[in-house]
Amino acid sequence: MKDLHITTGFSRLDKDQKIDLVASHLTESALFSNTLHNSWHRDAGVQKIYDEFSENTLGNYFFPYGVAPNFLINGKMYMLPLVIEESSVVAAASGAAKFWAERGGFHSEILGLEKVGQVHFTFDGGLSLLQRFFPEIRRQMLANTERTTSNMMKRGGGITNIELVDMTDKIPDYFQVKATFDTRDSMGANFINSCLEEFADTLRDFAAGNDAFAPFSLQVIMSILSNYTPNCLVRTWVEGEIKEGHHYDDFYTDREFVNRFETGVRIAEVDSYRATTHNKGIYNGIDAVVLATGNDFRAVEACGHAYASRNGTYSSLSRVEIEENVFRFILEVPMSLGTVGGLTALHPLAKLSLQLLGNPDAAQLMMIASAAGLANNYSAVKSLVTKGIQKGHMKMHLLNILNVYEATDTEKKHAVDYFKHEKVSHNAVNSFLQAIRS
Ligand code: MEV
Repeated sequence: MKDLHITTGFSRLDKDQKIDLVASHLTESALFSNTLHNSWHRDAGVQKIYDEFSENTLGNYFFPYGVAPNFLINGKMYMLPLVIEESSVVAAASGAAKFWAERGGFHSEILGLEKVGQVHFTFDGGLSLLQRFFPEIRRQMLANTERTTSNMMKRGGGITNIELVDMTDKIPDYFQVKATFDTRDSMGANFINSCLEEFADTLRDFAAGNDAFAPFSLQVIMSILSNYTPNCLVRTWVEGEIKEGHHYDDFYTDREFVNRFETGVRIAEVDSYRATTHNKGIYNGIDAVVLATGNDFRAVEACGHAYASRNGTYSSLSRVEIEENVFRFILEVPMSLGTVGGLTALHPLAKLSLQLLGNPDAAQLMMIASAAGLANNYSAVKSLVTKGIQKGHMKMHLLNILNVYEATDTEKKHAVDYFKHEKVSHNAVNSFLQAIRS
């Protein structure tokens, strides 16, 4: 890799020129260039769509697109599209889905669909002056956003509330306009941000045109949606009897198993180190659905992690309830998803993923994604409190290791047979390959 200096005009180069320029910095420049060219979709029209998702695009970076069947959610069977690069996740989701499909499936309910946005501003004239005029300011905000909101209102959504928030105990002269929105089946980021910028203009114009505000300074600092949507919330759970023959595990009795499982989840409730990994396992499933359906996984994750900290310490998003003979495993997670707008209609596979899911609305997609999260969480905690995850994970990871050593298909077949009964590790795989190669 050569030393880099400030690059100017990069965005104006065409794609080939960009690839050449970047490749010229690498020792393996031909490989870089060929790999990127080979990543282009064979249909130039489709490639153009991918290229225009973001900027300075050189090619495509592939992630596997997998499927987990047998997700019974509220009585309806789904086959879930999962985009994920980590081995074991799809297998874990499928395993838990099948197990629970035979025991009633996933139950899910929406607890709210509210989105949030804020105009952050400073005002040195005090709260009471703002409060006095706020009903009029709010009225003007609603009137001035009518053009932006009319379509959304036709679909039954729109602005649901606008309030003034006093934040002066945190930062002197700092206030917010906090608004809530119903964005129906769209994630709504553009809609919300447009409304907020119009609120900000209204606020500024109102202050500039009103004598009572003349001696004071009102400055809008920023207007932006909040990805923290604690009231855009879904609850999903599985439940089963605790009785022998329910077969939670081969080694432990059902009662022993659910007790160990409950303790495993309790640990994630009280310890943030464990909670982070526990919740990561939940997002293995959620992100995979979110990505497959063209949604914004950064927004979904940021929101979930903020929610996991809502009581002051970072904690588990899932919990266990044991009521006499019933074991219930519950995931409550906020997420803002869309099934219209954004990439959902543009990305060829996102569109087909939604089709595979029966073209769900946003609320149904929340239930589906959360079921994937709960399934992965169930499988992970189950493995952890019984046989440990490494054995199963390394078996799934075996093909990756074989690929690192450039194993042929025949070598892979022998290796898979051999490692059915042997511990998988890089060393063990390397030794095995050396042995059969010599
Ligand atoms: C690995 O991707 C996810 C797990 O670490 C989750 C967990 O520990 O609960 C297995």
